[in-house]
Amino acid sequence: MRSAYPFNQGWLYCAQDVAHGLSDDGFVGVTLPHTNIPLPYHNFDDREYQFVSTYRKRFTLPEPLNGRRLLVEFEGAMTAATVSINGHTFPEHRGGFVPFTLDITPHLDETSDNLLSVRLDSTERKDIPPFGHTVDYLVFGGLYREVNLTYVEPVYIENVFVKPRSVLSGSPSVEVDIRLRNVGDTDRTVGLYVAYGREDAPDAPAEATTPIAPTVTVPAGGVHTLSVTLTDIPAPALWSPDSPTLYRLVTHLMDGGRGATIDRRWTRFGFREAQFKDDGFYLNGQRLQLMGLNRHQNYPFIGAAAPARLQRKDAEILKHELGVNIVRTSHYPQSRHFLDRCDELGLIVFEEIPGWQHIGDADWKSLALRDVRAMIERDHNHPSIIIWGVRINESWDDHDFYTETNALARQLDPTRPTGGVRFFMGSEFLEDVYTYNDFSNRILEPENTPHLVTEYNGHMFPTKSWDHDQRRVEHAHRHLLVQNFARGMGGVSGAIGWCAFDYNTHREFGAGDRICYHGVMDIFRLPKYAAFSYLSQTPPSVRPVLQIASNWKAGDYNEGATIQPVTVLTNCDYVEAFVGEKLQGKFYPDRETYAHLPHPPIMMKDLDIRLAFPWHDLRVVGYVNDQPVIEQSIAADGVPARLELSVDDAELYADGADMTRVIFRITDKYGNPLQYAVAVVTLDVEGPADLLGETVFPLVGGQAAVYLRARHEAGQITIRANTPRLTPAHVTVNLV
Ligand code: GAL
Repeated sequence: MRSAYPFNQGWLYCAQDVAHGLSDDGFVGVTLPHTNIPLPYHNFDDREYQFVSTYRKRFTLPEPLNGRRLLVEFEGAMTAATVSINGHTFPEHRGGFVPFTLDITPHLDETSDNLLSVRLDSTERKDIPPFGHTVDYLVFGGLYREVNLTYVEPVYIENVFVKPRSVLSGSPSVEVDIRLRNVGDTDRTVGLYVAYGREDAPDAPAEATTPIAPTVTVPAGGVHTLSVTLTDIPAPALWSPDSPTLYRLVTHLMDGGRGATIDRRWTRFGFREAQFKDDGFYLNGQRLQLMGLNRHQNYPFIGAAAPARLQRKDAEILKHELGVNIVRTSHYPQSRHFLDRCDELGLIVFEEIPGWQHIGDADWKSLALRDVRAMIERDHNHPSIIIWGVRINESWDDHDFYTETNALARQLDPTRPTGGVRFFMGSEFLEDVYTYNDFSNRILEPENTPHLVTEYNGHMFPTKSWDHDQRRVEHAHRHLLVQNFARGMGGVSGAIGWCAFDYNTHREFGAGDRICYHGVMDIFRLPKYAAFSYLSQTPPSVRPVLQIASNWKAGDYNEGATIQPVTVLTNCDYVEAFVGEKLQGKFYPDRETYAHLPHPPIMMKDLDIRLAFPWHDLRVVGYVNDQPVIEQSIAADGVPARLELSVDDAELYADGADMTRVIFRITDKYGNPLQYAVAVVTLDVEGPADLLGETVFPLVGGQAAVYLRARHEAGQITIRANTPRLTPAHVTVNLV
């Protein structure tokens, strides 16, 4: 029978290339996910993480083999991994965005210690996508995703692909493709049984009772793939952004047809119909306008080595703090934890293969094709994924190569369309959806349909959290304008902006401090005004939103008058504004400029203010159905009033890897971050956990964050923050 163990604890790490046989001197204990070098969040050399390192794991078998095979799966080893076990070395695995699995059985010592080691080359190897030319993102090194150890019988279930069909018809069905592998040296006869049910149902099936293939023979050393269709499916609950119902299918593999269960796998899936048509995108038969943002998988300080909790949090931020309905995993397959959370939240996903503008030689292309396969075979059951990106982002046309990537994707997954992100008009349309990066500051007339805009803004208007207010406001308007265009044009399925979060990049791109400031949130995932351009498009019944896009400091503008109009990003029907105690009137959404947005911004004009006259607080109250539902005030005095400290999670697992974000802000008396509060914040921690990031933090932009990582001991953690002239703050976290 299969049994699986997470294999993330007790690794040894050395930031050098150490031969397999040498001693452990110079190694330190680490837990996975692990970055090969911790870095500051900016101002570092982008060659610092590009080196060869060594990981080792000494282990005894957690249980006897009993005739089974032992597989070790690396979910992400960046960028090229040469794995050895007890002196046997496997061929190098190239590419860190997709998993790989090795059968280590023949090389194991069943009775004593085993040594698994990984020589990890984290340099930008020109033979591996996305490299070969300069790339606008940093590909941080390390065993940065999880490792799993799995026992399987010589014949086992290698892959399950659950394909709900005709879900909107009166007679939906579920097609299940199952790939069985037999690594033994005799043919094996087995039987297959399945059951499925809603994941949240109390009686979600554990035992498979429906025979789908009573006897199947899997040849020695070979694979057998079968496809069966389950019919008589009672009306399923559909998966959608508002109601992301998930199902589980359990597959049992029985020895000799109906003997003992020798393998069992659970597959999560959802019933939904996603279609790109010439006039837009349809989910479950209804036109759905896609509004989204691109996401890079990198984080400040920890590279790409974010544990499940942080991966899941990014999906939550996109859904709840940005209010988008689609995310593009630019420019590579991302963590399964992120995708799982997208499934659970109803956040639609565009996933694509690794690459950035450059196409390499034949060997490089064969790796890109391998990536198409690995991405689809890993992720084809996620209902959130509605399209596969099978071009190298923004590369030139390559007829033969892209004919092949498209054919492979369609063969592996006939249920989803292909896209391929291009950045020039006239590019050959080999895909099912014309996915286009449109940097015109509007939306160009589609030259092909179905049409989806996969990037806009970005380098057209990089914006920092502490930039001049006017720029930050314009940044917010530019995002609104493109969304307004997208919604106003027939035939545009939607638009995915560049990008959700600021990210680390090479010296050639970004601001020179190794950050590209194209996010609507900063690198800590804290909002700029433009974040509310998106969030304010949510219906007020989901959540009322009101953000004044102004620092309310007239003297920071060229003349007192230019602080007006004051933009309010909101989904309210109207707002009332008060300067001091004085009501300025009611203000309504700007439907003239933004005719197609569900919730245009409100432009407050003719407020009774004059530079050099006594300056008063601004208070804006939002109304829905004539009821006040939300308000925001901004202090006129600009005096730092509070140091705020918060954590995203009050509880962490004491597993040496779990992390949460620790946010700190210097705010006015109403809690608004003061963008120009440039101050040193000192952080310290008491208890068995570590802060990752600068603990003497030169704060700019009024807000920033570090991460708290649990050690292996349960207990209570207290984090304290200090800054001159303000009351210290503290917060506690439990480790369980
Ligand atoms: C695009 C590219 C993105 C990013 C962006 C910056 O051309 O696809 O990866 O570099 O520009 O605006």
